[in-house]
Amino acid sequence: MNNMLQKNYLVVYYSHTGNTERIANLISKYLDCDIEKIEDMKKRSGPMGYVLAGRDGLLKKLTNIGNIKNDPSSYKTIIIGTPVWVSVTPAVRTYLSLYGNKIKNAAFFCTMEGSGGKKAFQDMEVVYGKKPISTLEIKLNEIDKDQFEEKIKEFIRRIKTLKNLYYSK
Ligand SMILES: Cc1cc2nc3c(=O)[nH]c(=O)nc-3n(C[C@H](O)[C@H](O)[C@H](O)COP(=O)(O)O)c2cc1C
Repeated sequence: MNNMLQKNYLVVYYSHTGNTERIANLISKYLDCDIEKIEDMKKRSGPMGYVLAGRDGLLKKLTNIGNIKNDPSSYKTIIIGTPVWVSVTPAVRTYLSLYGNKIKNAAFFCTMEGSGGKKAFQDMEVVYGKKPISTLEIKLNEIDKDQFEEKIKEFIRRIKTLKNLYYSK
């Protein structure tokens, strides 16, 4: 796509219980940009759903995802969010494996209980095939205490600065 016709930002995320969605909504609000939720077609409710979700994350499984509304190649930078399920969620892994080659610049964010964000980002980078321009990890206790707004603003500042460097290449 012609660079002049591209929009600046798209936020894409998967969320099972709403935490990642909350952060995704804020990022899209601050960037005043389009937002897209990835739908995992696999049923993941109940205790068995939880166990299998963890297993799918650990085993780096792909899944079936719903049709996307926004063509990633229409945007200069895509900000992609996932909960940590040991690694990246199958839904976001699948999105990256299907559309990663259409993403010019990517930034990653995740929400998690305590740890695993770096591993999720490493795995996302492998599937995407390029380094993200920026990353952001948010822990549940930061969400509970509403301590994430400043981190998000800093993440956005970095994206806005770095994207200019990357575009000029
Ligand atoms: C199957 C499963 C596996 C998880 N694995 C981890 C983990 O390895 N490390 C961690 O810190 N949190 C883990 N969590 C907690 C989630 O990452 C956390 O609750 C996240 O904020 C959920 O995001 P969501 O509300 O957008 O679905 C796991 C949650 C589920 C359901």
